[in-house]
Amino acid sequence: MNTLISQSTAWAALTQHQQQLAHTKIRDLFSQDKQRFERFSVTAAGLFLDYSKNRLTTETLNLLQQLAEEAKLKEWIIHLFRGDKVNNTEQRAALHTALRNRANTPILVDGQDVMPQINQVFQRLQVFTEAVRNQQWRGHTGKSINTIVNIGIGGSDLGPAMVIRALKRYQSPNLTNYFVSNVDSTHLSQILAQINPETTLFIVASKTFTTQETLLNARSARRWLIEQLGSEQAVAQHFVAVSTATQKVVDFGIDPANMFEFWDWVGGRYSLWSAIGLPIMLAIGKEHFEELLSGAYELDQHFQTASFSHNLPVLLGLIEIWYVNFFNASTQAILPYDFSLELFPAYLQQLCMESLGKRVTREGQPVDYATGPIVWGAPGNNGQHAFYQLLHQGSHLVPADILIALHSQYPLSGHQEAVLSNALAQAHTLMQGRNAVETESVLRDLGGQGESLKQSVAHRTFPGNQPSNIILYSTLSPKTLGALIALYEHKVFVESVCWGLNPFDQWGVELGKQVANSLLPVLSGENRDIAHDPSTDGLIRYIQQHR
Ligand code: F6P
Repeated sequence: MNTLISQSTAWAALTQHQQQLAHTKIRDLFSQDKQRFERFSVTAAGLFLDYSKNRLTTETLNLLQQLAEEAKLKEWIIHLFRGDKVNNTEQRAALHTALRNRANTPILVDGQDVMPQINQVFQRLQVFTEAVRNQQWRGHTGKSINTIVNIGIGGSDLGPAMVIRALKRYQSPNLTNYFVSNVDSTHLSQILAQINPETTLFIVASKTFTTQETLLNARSARRWLIEQLGSEQAVAQHFVAVSTATQKVVDFGIDPANMFEFWDWVGGRYSLWSAIGLPIMLAIGKEHFEELLSGAYELDQHFQTASFSHNLPVLLGLIEIWYVNFFNASTQAILPYDFSLELFPAYLQQLCMESLGKRVTREGQPVDYATGPIVWGAPGNNGQHAFYQLLHQGSHLVPADILIALHSQYPLSGHQEAVLSNALAQAHTLMQGRNAVETESVLRDLGGQGESLKQSVAHRTFPGNQPSNIILYSTLSPKTLGALIALYEHKVFVESVCWGLNPFDQWGVELGKQVANSLLPVLSGENRDIAHDPSTDGLIRYIQQHR
């Protein structure tokens, strides 16, 4: 058994150091250091990170970097990029970085270079994309395709959906995209009601091709298509698959010629760079897809080469560890002031929470410290009128990442200035707060006095000291988005290494799937053998009586 990171020298030093900073106000740190903004900001791959509004000093950063050294982060970064089996519980590499290896240098898995197969599948994706976009790919009745329906869930849905939403400006005007993920038939039915079978292409996206939700939706879509077009033959022109499981795709009834492959060393939540990105390539075209890859590649290079003190993912990961383990923060807010990133928080929830929601180390040893926080968020402006009250005056520490575009992808006079002023105002107020003396003075100026003034002060005081990282970029482009996604992928990796976790498995999801499968025959009346827990058994009886 390896020693837990909580036994390290840096951890002990950080625990002591936290006591010195526990009651320090960030605003006072700014008063003490006029260079704080310059000192605690850094640029890479088109992203500018200002992390000065955090409860930290140079000493904090030094100790956090020492923690990363003790966790052997440098070596782990090499293992990751080299294709070592960093996913030890499944004995697999995690080579999402190979998919965007623009230098095309060999990367070996089990002694075999994976780049030729990556390039070959990319080539097939490109040919297929061009055929659809140039209207050469025809449906069963001879019409060209104008609607793409992706059927997948989790990593086979969230990444492509988020990217297409973010890059809608680059979308081909001749194609409309839909995503079906939920097994509730409402999802599929509402989409089927809007589309024309003659001009629709379904992409069944599933790494394992065993996922209940995806297969059920795919079967229903297939049945609908055959009914509508009156022929089984129609499936060949209207269904393609993206998977690692060729035989299962064939068993489903999709021609392997219409299947785009990826490999077990691509994790589901890290797969948008692979053939799972097909809906992205169809929507924005091959060149823009390549720019997305290039942005991620630039960030990959930065992650591998920059010193920890100037390394964006390292800094973001270490800062999160600082709050989770030394300030007991249990949450991380993602607040994009860029409406195109509407789906980014949901995408990050899977990336971060499926990767870091673990309680044992790689070696199976229980940890005695907190791990991945609860990640959530919404576009900043909307959040201000919904949940920001809790950030400003509630009782929880809520570190936030605030993502800001300098320019809108859709400029309208006066709007972007409003976006920017709101973003900066919120980050400032969350940090600065307004103490009782300041509040009283403001209220006095407004004519307040006596007992009512005293009462108002309590209600209108803001504790402040809520930390934030500001991530600024010019306009959201495929390249910037690629870098932004890679930034968070690597931030997660940094944390996993420091916490000693395997971020590439998700055993926690499996048990729920198994139990759902065991309940299915019970609910459908095929199997009367009821034995779960008294509540579940009672619910089964209730459902059976009332359906
Ligand atoms: O939700 C669990 C999960 O295994 C995710 O990790 C994965 O992205 C998703 O299911 C979908 O899996 P598949 O692509 O195999 O259908």
